[in-house]
Amino acid sequence: MAREVRHTATGPLKLDEDDVDPEKGDVAICRCGISEEYPFCDGSHNATTDEDEGVVYRYEDGERYVVEEIVYADE
Ligand code: FES
Repeated sequence: MAREVRHTATGPLKLDEDDVDPEKGDVAICRCGISEEYPFCDGSHNATTDEDEGVVYRYEDGERYVVEEIVYADE
């Protein structure tokens, strides 16, 4: 399994104490790439639990799609 993730930011996001979860006392960074609160985890990763190995997925507007082919710029 893999995911196609599109980024539009052009620089870093600096975290501060306001980013700490008031209940858990921690900061969870999204590693699945589909959080609506990106770069913070919002639990959206639960939608990825049944992904198949060897398949590339794209998530958009709450829907999951299978990416047929990835075309790289240098090919
Ligand atoms: S790791 Fe991406 S939403 Fe939780």
